[in-house]
Amino acid sequence: MKNILITGGAGFIGSSLALKLIDRGYSVTVLDSLSEQIHSENPEKNSPLYQRILGKVKFIKGDVSNRKDIEKSIENQDAIIHLAAETGTGQSMYEIERYNRVNVSGTALILDVLVNKKNGVKKFVLASSRAVYGEGKYQDSSAKIVFPSNRRTDLMEKGIFEMTDDKGEIIKPLPTSEDSKLHPTSFYGLTKLQQEQMVKLVCPTISVDYVILRYQNVYGVGQSLVNPYTGILSIFSSQILSGKDINIFEDGLPTRDFINIKDVTEATIRSLEMDAANNQTINIGTGIATTVKSVAENLVEGYQKDVTVSVTGNFRIGDIRHNFADIYLMKNLLHYEPKVSFSQGMQAFTQWVVKQPVLENDFEASLQEMKQKGFLKT
Ligand SMILES: NC(=O)c1ccc[n+]([C@@H]2O[C@H](COP(=O)([O-])OP(=O)(O)OC[C@H]3O[C@@H](n4cnc5c(N)ncnc54)[C@H](O)[C@@H]3O)[C@@H](O)[C@H]2O)c1
Repeated sequence: MKNILITGGAGFIGSSLALKLIDRGYSVTVLDSLSEQIHSENPEKNSPLYQRILGKVKFIKGDVSNRKDIEKSIENQDAIIHLAAETGTGQSMYEIERYNRVNVSGTALILDVLVNKKNGVKKFVLASSRAVYGEGKYQDSSAKIVFPSNRRTDLMEKGIFEMTDDKGEIIKPLPTSEDSKLHPTSFYGLTKLQQEQMVKLVCPTISVDYVILRYQNVYGVGQSLVNPYTGILSIFSSQILSGKDINIFEDGLPTRDFINIKDVTEATIRSLEMDAANNQTINIGTGIATTVKSVAENLVEGYQKDVTVSVTGNFRIGDIRHNFADIYLMKNLLHYEPKVSFSQGMQAFTQWVVKQPVLENDFEASLQEMKQKGFLKT
């Protein structure tokens, strides 16, 4: 395989991946709409993400929901890494049509073109998400494995955020393995699950090998600093650097599995190159749970700013409480274990952020919007 198409290749993960693939001798084509939410206004001029791939890839400005753009992009490609998507969990709860159009219909259209137009694509790598698991795997008070569904709004309004079982006992999160129950709690998660199902169904009918990668929370150098809808490290960083206190949702103790972009690009390239990954679904994470509060505190320390981190008890409908990955398959199929520790990754990230131009992040406005729609409870 030599020619690789990355949809969404001007984004955070896509641009890092493109650069690494080029280093390894691949020819990379990028199909990307340069969405303003990620790349800011006048992206050709202002987007650092776009600038880093400019002149290095064959760039096609286009939309995954436009057949002609896809037809043009797949010409002479050996493989597709499909990353283009709308990615805000909270935003997806009220921008349903848009998330459906880009994530679900866009993926359906790519598959339709692969089925109906002559092409040389042999492999399809899909960027899925931990969001397909919803709350993921837990152990209840009788040591039984359970997959709890959404938390109850009435309990969260009383400040009860942990997952509980039938007896009202707090249950323990476990590393979530790929065979866990799939029951997303957000519309975004649902679109990712639909993408997976379409890819699994269609690719075998045209003898294209697929790999589904369920990324955990990806962070690191290069992530969009202007998108207020996703990426807590960016959102917190913008707040801290503009001297604003950090107000964290719930009790600050939800956990996520933060994996550095360097590890994500390496694992993704392995999934592209290794036959052992063919037709598999693989978690890409570290297996380590980190609280949101500790992320905020580490960032404040990293930037050495005098801002306060407080917990608000506010919460968003659709947010999960805990999730961290079981990475057995990643280790055994891709022979890969994450190399960048969270503290190393945070240090590199904060050192990079302070060198970036200060761009407006409309986080406060996004919260107001969410509140107005009834998805942020205060
Ligand atoms: N970053 C994470 O933590 C994370 C976690 C789990 C899964 N993922 C998945 O990985 C993929 C890449 O995520 P990312 O963090 O790089 O996101 P990103 O927002 O930085 O990049 C997405 C790219 O897709 C482009 N795009 C959006 N709509 C498009 C459309 N209609 N047509 C063409 N291009 C379009 C955007 O302009 C952007 O460049 C997504 O599919 C996302 O769901 C990311």
